[in-house]
Amino acid sequence: MDIEEVVRDGSLVLLKQGAEARVFESNFVGRRAVVKERFSKKYRHPTLDAKLTLKRLNAEARCTTKARRLGVSTPSLYAVDTVLHSLTFEFVDGPAVKDVLLEFGSNGIVEERLDDIAMQIGAAIAKLHDGGLIHGDLTTSNMLIRNVSNQLLQVLIDFGLSFTSTLPEDKAVDLYVLERALLSMHSSCGNVHSWFCSFWSQSVFLFSDCLRLPVSVRQRGRKRTMVG
Ligand SMILES: Nc1ncnc2c1ncn2[C@@H]1O[C@H](COP(=O)(O)OP(=O)(O)OP(=O)(O)O)[C@@H](O)[C@H]1O
Ligand SMILES: [Mg+2]
Repeated sequence: MDIEEVVRDGSLVLLKQGAEARVFESNFVGRRAVVKERFSKKYRHPTLDAKLTLKRLNAEARCTTKARRLGVSTPSLYAVDTVLHSLTFEFVDGPAVKDVLLEFGSNGIVEERLDDIAMQIGAAIAKLHDGGLIHGDLTTSNMLIRNVSNQLLQVLIDFGLSFTSTLPEDKAVDLYVLERALLSMHSSCGNVHSWFCSFWSQSVFLFSDCLRLPVSVRQRGRKRTMVG
Protein backbone atom coordinates (compact mmCIF):
# COMPACT_ATOMS: atom_id res chain seq x y z
CA MET A 1 0.00 0.00 0.00
CA ASP A 2 1.47 3.45 -0.83
CA ILE A 3 0.98 6.62 1.20
CA GLU A 4 -1.80 7.97 -1.06
CA GLU A 5 -3.87 4.83 -0.41
CA VAL A 6 -3.36 5.08 3.35
CA VAL A 7 -4.44 8.77 3.23
CA ARG A 8 -7.61 7.80 1.32
CA ASP A 9 -8.36 5.06 3.81
CA GLY A 10 -8.24 7.63 6.64
CA SER A 11 -5.30 6.18 8.64
CA LEU A 12 -3.15 9.24 7.87
CA VAL A 13 -4.32 12.82 8.35
CA LEU A 14 -2.27 15.57 6.70
CA LEU A 15 -0.79 18.02 9.26
CA LYS A 16 1.59 19.94 7.06
CA GLN A 17 2.50 20.03 3.40
CA GLY A 18 5.97 21.51 2.91
CA ALA A 19 8.16 21.99 -0.14
CA GLU A 20 10.07 18.76 0.44
CA ALA A 21 8.04 16.74 2.91
CA ARG A 22 4.52 16.04 4.07
CA VAL A 23 3.74 15.40 7.71
CA PHE A 24 0.76 13.24 8.66
CA GLU A 25 -0.80 12.34 11.98
CA SER A 26 -1.12 8.60 12.39
CA ASN A 27 -1.02 5.74 14.81
CA PHE A 28 1.90 3.41 15.47
CA VAL A 29 1.04 0.20 17.34
CA GLY A 30 -1.56 2.05 19.40
CA ARG A 31 0.51 5.20 19.96
CA ARG A 32 -0.19 8.61 18.51
CA ALA A 33 2.46 9.22 15.86
CA VAL A 34 3.49 11.43 12.96
CA VAL A 35 4.67 10.14 9.61
CA LYS A 36 7.04 12.41 7.69
CA GLU A 37 7.23 11.53 4.03
CA ARG A 38 9.89 13.01 1.77
CA PHE A 39 8.54 13.14 -1.76
CA SER A 40 10.50 13.21 -4.98
CA LYS A 41 11.16 16.44 -6.86
CA LYS A 42 10.05 16.10 -10.44
CA TYR A 43 12.55 18.69 -11.71
CA ARG A 44 15.52 16.62 -10.48
CA HIS A 45 17.10 13.77 -12.37
CA PRO A 46 15.45 10.60 -10.95
CA THR A 47 18.73 8.96 -9.87
CA LEU A 48 20.01 12.14 -8.20
CA ASP A 49 16.59 12.73 -6.65
CA ALA A 50 16.48 9.23 -5.14
CA LYS A 51 19.99 9.69 -3.73
CA LEU A 52 19.27 13.11 -2.19
CA THR A 53 15.93 12.04 -0.74
CA LEU A 54 17.50 8.99 0.88
CA LYS A 55 20.42 11.05 2.17
CA ARG A 56 18.10 13.50 3.97
CA LEU A 57 15.92 10.68 5.27
CA ASN A 58 18.95 8.92 6.74
CA ALA A 59 20.43 12.17 8.10
CA GLU A 60 17.18 12.97 9.87
CA ALA A 61 16.90 9.48 11.39
CA ARG A 62 20.56 9.36 12.46
CA CYS A 63 20.76 12.91 13.81
CA THR A 64 17.46 12.74 15.73
CA THR A 65 18.78 9.63 17.45
CA LYS A 66 22.17 11.20 18.08
CA ALA A 67 20.55 14.33 19.57
CA ARG A 68 18.56 12.12 21.95
CA ARG A 69 21.75 10.38 23.01
CA LEU A 70 23.27 13.78 23.75
CA GLY A 71 20.42 14.43 26.17
CA VAL A 72 18.34 16.71 23.94
CA SER A 73 14.61 16.18 24.03
CA THR A 74 13.40 14.95 20.61
CA PRO A 75 10.45 12.76 19.56
CA SER A 76 11.26 9.04 19.65
CA LEU A 77 11.89 7.58 16.23
CA TYR A 78 9.52 4.64 15.77
CA ALA A 79 10.23 3.52 12.21
CA VAL A 80 12.23 4.23 9.06
CA ASP A 81 10.86 3.24 5.64
CA THR A 82 13.50 3.66 2.93
CA VAL A 83 11.08 2.51 0.20
CA LEU A 84 8.28 4.99 0.93
CA HIS A 85 10.88 7.54 2.15
CA SER A 86 9.10 8.07 5.42
CA LEU A 87 10.00 8.36 9.10
CA THR A 88 7.52 7.65 11.89
CA PHE A 89 7.97 9.65 15.09
CA GLU A 90 6.24 9.90 18.43
CA PHE A 91 3.56 12.64 18.32
CA VAL A 92 4.47 15.69 20.42
CA ASP A 93 1.27 17.20 21.75
CA GLY A 94 1.81 20.92 22.21
CA PRO A 95 2.35 24.23 20.42
CA ALA A 96 5.45 25.35 18.53
CA VAL A 97 7.68 27.94 20.22
CA LYS A 98 6.83 30.11 17.20
CA ASP A 99 3.15 30.23 18.18
CA VAL A 100 3.93 30.88 21.85
CA LEU A 101 6.26 33.79 20.97
CA LEU A 102 3.76 35.21 18.46
CA GLU A 103 1.13 35.13 21.18
CA PHE A 104 3.52 37.00 23.52
CA GLY A 105 3.97 39.54 20.72
CA SER A 106 0.25 40.22 20.45
CA ASN A 107 -1.00 39.67 24.03
CA GLY A 108 2.03 40.65 26.10
CA ILE A 109 5.09 38.74 27.26
CA VAL A 110 4.90 36.36 30.21
CA GLU A 111 8.48 36.98 31.43
CA GLU A 112 8.75 33.79 33.42
CA ARG A 113 7.70 31.62 30.46
CA LEU A 114 9.97 33.50 28.07
CA ASP A 115 12.91 32.97 30.46
CA ASP A 116 12.10 29.29 30.67
CA ILE A 117 11.77 28.86 26.90
CA ALA A 118 15.04 30.75 26.27
CA MET A 119 16.86 28.71 28.87
CA GLN A 120 15.64 25.41 27.41
CA ILE A 121 16.50 26.41 23.84
CA GLY A 122 19.96 27.55 24.92
CA ALA A 123 20.58 24.36 26.87
CA ALA A 124 19.43 22.14 23.97
CA ILE A 125 21.63 23.90 21.42
CA ALA A 126 24.59 23.80 23.80
CA LYS A 127 24.22 20.02 24.19
CA LEU A 128 23.97 19.55 20.40
CA HIS A 129 26.96 21.74 19.63
CA ASP A 130 29.10 20.42 22.46
CA GLY A 131 28.33 16.92 21.15
CA GLY A 132 29.39 17.89 17.61
CA LEU A 133 25.93 18.01 16.05
CA ILE A 134 24.67 20.91 13.93
CA HIS A 135 20.89 21.16 13.64
CA GLY A 136 20.86 23.02 10.32
CA ASP A 137 17.38 24.54 10.57
CA LEU A 138 17.02 26.21 13.96
CA THR A 139 13.72 28.04 13.63
CA THR A 140 11.00 28.46 16.22
CA SER A 141 8.69 26.19 14.12
CA ASN A 142 11.12 23.35 14.75
CA MET A 143 10.81 23.66 18.53
CA LEU A 144 7.66 22.26 20.13
CA ILE A 145 6.56 22.55 23.75
CA ARG A 146 4.96 19.60 25.51
CA ASN A 147 3.41 19.49 28.95
CA VAL A 148 4.86 16.68 31.09
CA SER A 149 3.34 16.54 34.59
CA ASN A 150 2.75 20.30 34.59
CA GLN A 151 6.28 21.01 33.41
CA LEU A 152 6.68 22.60 29.98
CA LEU A 153 9.43 20.79 28.09
CA GLN A 154 10.87 22.00 24.85
CA VAL A 155 11.32 19.35 22.12
CA LEU A 156 13.53 19.82 19.07
CA ILE A 157 12.36 18.37 15.72
CA ASP A 158 13.23 18.43 12.01
CA PHE A 159 16.83 17.19 11.81
CA GLY A 160 16.64 16.79 7.99
CA LEU A 161 19.48 19.29 7.44
CA SER A 162 21.59 18.14 10.38
CA PHE A 163 25.17 16.97 10.21
CA THR A 164 28.07 16.26 12.52
CA SER A 165 30.75 18.92 12.90
CA THR A 166 32.87 20.39 15.65
CA LEU A 167 33.86 23.50 13.66
CA PRO A 168 33.00 26.79 15.40
CA GLU A 169 32.13 28.13 11.94
CA ASP A 170 29.34 25.54 11.48
CA LYS A 171 28.00 26.28 14.97
CA ALA A 172 28.08 29.98 14.18
CA VAL A 173 26.03 29.43 11.01
CA ASP A 174 23.52 27.35 13.03
CA LEU A 175 23.13 30.26 15.47
CA TYR A 176 22.97 32.76 12.63
CA VAL A 177 19.95 30.90 11.17
CA LEU A 178 18.25 31.16 14.57
CA GLU A 179 19.16 34.82 14.87
CA ARG A 180 17.54 35.56 11.51
CA ALA A 181 14.44 33.54 12.42
CA LEU A 182 14.06 35.40 15.71
CA LEU A 183 14.60 38.82 14.19
CA SER A 184 12.20 38.26 11.31
CA MET A 185 9.44 36.53 13.30
CA HIS A 186 9.66 37.68 16.88
CA SER A 187 10.89 41.26 17.09
CA SER A 188 7.57 42.10 18.80
CA CYS A 189 8.87 40.19 21.86
CA GLY A 190 11.51 42.88 22.47
CA ASN A 191 15.20 42.23 21.94
CA VAL A 192 14.74 38.47 22.19
CA HIS A 193 17.95 37.53 20.47
CA SER A 194 20.33 39.55 22.63
CA TRP A 195 18.52 38.12 25.64
CA PHE A 196 19.07 34.56 24.39
CA CYS A 197 22.72 35.33 23.64
CA SER A 198 23.41 36.63 27.12
CA PHE A 199 22.03 33.42 28.60
CA TRP A 200 24.09 31.21 26.30
CA SER A 201 27.32 33.09 26.74
CA GLN A 202 26.97 32.92 30.52
CA SER A 203 26.09 29.26 30.71
CA VAL A 204 28.12 27.59 28.01
CA PHE A 205 31.79 28.12 27.48
CA LEU A 206 31.80 26.90 23.87
CA PHE A 207 29.08 29.33 22.92
CA SER A 208 31.18 32.35 23.66
CA ASP A 209 33.36 31.47 20.66
CA CYS A 210 30.42 31.00 18.37
CA LEU A 211 28.55 34.05 19.52
CA ARG A 212 31.30 36.27 18.25
CA LEU A 213 29.93 35.36 14.83
CA PRO A 214 32.59 35.96 12.25
CA VAL A 215 31.69 38.92 10.04
CA SER A 216 31.97 36.62 7.03
CA VAL A 217 29.18 34.36 8.35
CA ARG A 218 26.89 37.33 8.89
CA GLN A 219 27.63 38.58 5.38
CA ARG A 220 27.02 35.38 3.50
CA GLY A 221 24.34 33.80 5.70
CA ARG A 222 24.13 30.01 5.75
CA LYS A 223 25.92 29.57 2.41
CA ARG A 224 29.41 28.14 2.58
CA THR A 225 32.47 29.76 1.05
CA MET A 226 33.05 28.02 -2.28
CA VAL A 227 36.69 28.49 -3.13
CA GLY A 228 38.86 26.18 -5.20
N1 LIG B 1 6.79 14.66 16.25
C1 LIG B 1 5.89 15.62 15.97
N2 LIG B 1 4.83 15.82 16.78
C2 LIG B 1 3.91 16.77 16.50
N3 LIG B 1 3.95 17.59 15.42
C3 LIG B 1 5.00 17.44 14.58
C4 LIG B 1 6.02 16.45 14.81
N4 LIG B 1 6.90 16.53 13.79
C5 LIG B 1 6.47 17.51 12.99
N5 LIG B 1 5.33 18.07 13.45
C6 LIG B 1 4.55 19.17 12.85
O1 LIG B 1 4.78 19.19 11.46
C7 LIG B 1 5.46 20.41 11.09
C8 LIG B 1 6.46 20.11 9.97
O2 LIG B 1 7.41 19.14 10.43
P1 LIG B 1 8.97 19.31 10.13
O3 LIG B 1 9.44 20.60 10.67
O4 LIG B 1 9.64 18.06 10.56
O5 LIG B 1 8.95 19.32 8.56
P2 LIG B 1 9.30 20.44 7.45
O6 LIG B 1 9.75 21.70 8.08
O7 LIG B 1 8.20 20.49 6.48
O8 LIG B 1 10.44 19.64 6.80
P3 LIG B 1 11.84 19.97 6.17
O9 LIG B 1 12.26 21.36 6.63
O10 LIG B 1 12.73 18.88 6.75
O11 LIG B 1 11.66 19.83 4.68
C9 LIG B 1 6.09 20.93 12.37
O12 LIG B 1 6.31 22.33 12.35
C10 LIG B 1 5.07 20.50 13.42
O13 LIG B 1 3.99 21.42 13.43
MG1 LIG C 1 10.34 22.29 10.02
